[in-house]
Amino acid sequence: MAGIGKNIDKAIELLTSGEVVAIPTETVYGLAANAMDLQAVDKIYRVKQRPKNNPLIIHIAHRDQLHWYASHIPPAAFQLAAEFWPGPLTLVLPKTPDISSELTAQQTTVAIRVPQHPLTLDLLRQLPFPLAAPSANPYGYISPTTALHVKEQLGHVIPYILDGGPCQAGIESTIVGFENNSPVIYRKGMVTIHDLERVIGKTIFKPVEKSKVVTAGMALSHYAPKTPLYLTKDITKTMDAFEGKNLGLLLFKDQHFEKATLKKIVLSASGQLAEAAHHLYEALHTLDAMKVDAILAEWMPDEGVGAALNDRLRRAAFKVLE
Ligand code: TXA
Ligand code: MG
Repeated sequence: MAGIGKNIDKAIELLTSGEVVAIPTETVYGLAANAMDLQAVDKIYRVKQRPKNNPLIIHIAHRDQLHWYASHIPPAAFQLAAEFWPGPLTLVLPKTPDISSELTAQQTTVAIRVPQHPLTLDLLRQLPFPLAAPSANPYGYISPTTALHVKEQLGHVIPYILDGGPCQAGIESTIVGFENNSPVIYRKGMVTIHDLERVIGKTIFKPVEKSKVVTAGMALSHYAPKTPLYLTKDITKTMDAFEGKNLGLLLFKDQHFEKATLKKIVLSASGQLAEAAHHLYEALHTLDAMKVDAILAEWMPDEGVGAALNDRLRRAAFKVLE
């Protein structure tokens, strides 16, 4: 069983010897390995049971290291790095030869970010290599936002979890690349379209079916609990349709329901989207563990970070109801 602790020296020792270690970031926990050691990278794929055609993000200590791994960096990418790093933004850029195409699923681009978490930044600064790290969940399941989530999901197959407490942001980074020099958003995340456009002007969002780029965050079913989740515009009406079932509710703000037996999680009593993001995956883990027959979730307000939350809910959903 994986050890859990704050021992950076232990993480360094394991990573240097080619092991995988779970690390905290401000978005979700990552399953990290030496990005320059292909056997270690291979372990990530095996542990996660992730298909090899799904490329990994590399995590670096500082934006000054960007040009070690990325070539042809457009000015807008430098502007975004200066504004949002360390932080929940991933840049997709043409890779340098130092980055193996094993890591990028044979693509010529690489995804890079500087995470904002004191423990992991400290770790990255001490390591002589960058860390490849996808979210530390088995492929397709809900991403982990605490060390305990990682332990429950992968504790039997990894040696160590660096515990940095609950992830502050709570959902994955925004992914931005460039096509014909225009910024393209591949995955919505904590950095909103508005935040990006404030810095670099107009962006394009490429919905799944229109993109040629392989990215799993874009796979239609993802981030999903084992319990079927129904996403609905009208919780009360949907509850009637599920009469007699044992239900778990996932709500943005609080609402009162007649049935006292309902299991209900409110993401933000005060209606703050950032707070809802912080709680979303924790709530899905909790509802999944309650062994209800179905989870009914309502859409979040579709503004700011709400767009990313709705993206995750849509993918987590077994069915989207009218
Ligand atoms: O917040 C995050 O980004 C977290 C933390 C751990 O950093 N990581 C994360 O990794 O969400 P992962 O592997 O679960 O999701 C990364 C996404 C995948 O959908 C992958 O397909 C996409 O990034 N990706 C990686 N390299 C890419 C590339 N060269 N071009 C396009 N998409 C890429
Ligand atoms: Mg993931």
